[in-house]
Amino acid sequence: MKAAITLRSGNPEVIEIQDMPVPAAKSGWVLIKIKAFGLNRSELFTRRGHSPGVVFPRIQGIECVGTVEEDLSGTYSKGQKVAAIMGGMGREFDGGYAEYTLVPWQIVFPFESNLPWSILGAIPEMFQTVSGSLTQALEVKKGETLLIRGGTSSIGMLSCQLAKHSGLTVISTTRNEAKKKFLIENGADHVLIDNGTVTEELRALFPEGVDKVLELIGIKTLKDSLKCIKPGGVVCMTGILGGEWTMEEFTPMGDIPSLGRLTVYMGEATNLRKELLQDFIDAVENEKITLNIDKVFHLDHIVEAHTYMENNLATGKLVIEI
Ligand SMILES: NC(=O)c1ccc[n+]([C@@H]2O[C@H](COP(=O)([O-])OP(=O)(O)OC[C@H]3O[C@@H](n4cnc5c(N)ncnc54)[C@H](OP(=O)(O)O)[C@@H]3O)[C@@H](O)[C@H]2O)c1
Repeated sequence: MKAAITLRSGNPEVIEIQDMPVPAAKSGWVLIKIKAFGLNRSELFTRRGHSPGVVFPRIQGIECVGTVEEDLSGTYSKGQKVAAIMGGMGREFDGGYAEYTLVPWQIVFPFESNLPWSILGAIPEMFQTVSGSLTQALEVKKGETLLIRGGTSSIGMLSCQLAKHSGLTVISTTRNEAKKKFLIENGADHVLIDNGTVTEELRALFPEGVDKVLELIGIKTLKDSLKCIKPGGVVCMTGILGGEWTMEEFTPMGDIPSLGRLTVYMGEATNLRKELLQDFIDAVENEKITLNIDKVFHLDHIVEAHTYMENNLATGKLVIEI
């Protein structure tokens, strides 16, 4: 099979297309013929060598969609459409940047759909993250206000759409004035230009603050996001687009406003239910949700795709088709 192998940590050029044997089926694992996969920012960090425990060479890719090639348990028949996410995929064992992958049974989600693979490839990890952050971590409710910090990211764009469907008012941020129109077209009620602090501009619109904040930039803007919530408000840190993992100084009584709450979301396959995934795929197929897919690359152009992601050229999901 053809596989994109990350040979060592470094720039996108450390990923090379090579011929490899197709993995042999084994008990408890499902062999998937991959049709497409979404590109994830965490894979950029892994490629740079920032994912503890990842040993190179490694076939990266924390998610994929495709068809079952072989399942020794007999649960899935050959040809069943499936998604696979997380559970160590592309980190502890070889993942989705290939024509075939062998993954543990627990991270496989069957579905039915007539959507093209290039669209299905965008869905699993993005949907798991957005739905987990909004419903499990932030527990968003109709009528609430939601600030999305890092609004042009694929997670930010889908979060805005799902929050609007749930009847929230959404404020999205970007650092780039030129991307403002994408956020408005995507449904945001307000757009703020983020230069590290947005509290003043936000409080001009919502003097009491917002109910919920989805923090995708991370440590760099977290303290400022905490200043944006009203009493009883919640900030959920789901992303680290800013690239910083640890905060030098944090004073809980001070940095978290009184009665405010801070949580994080680190989604896993266990956070996803197959019924929810199917419902979401149906909503995309019925055009109730429009996915923001920025660009579709072929596996042969994986280096170009990683470079595109590294240069922040996307407003929406990047997908690789096999
Ligand atoms: N917790 C979980 O379960 C989970 C799962 C999946 C992803 N994530 C995280 O969610 C975040 C979003 O992922 P994604 O794949 O949707 O990202 P993405 O689409 O690649 O995000 C691209 C956007 O990020 C913004 N950005 C890039 N570098 C930045 C910086 N230094 N400071 C501020 N903004 C920056 C840029 O926005 P502008 O140029 O418009 O400002 C760019 O348009 C990532 O941190 C990812 O690791 C978490």
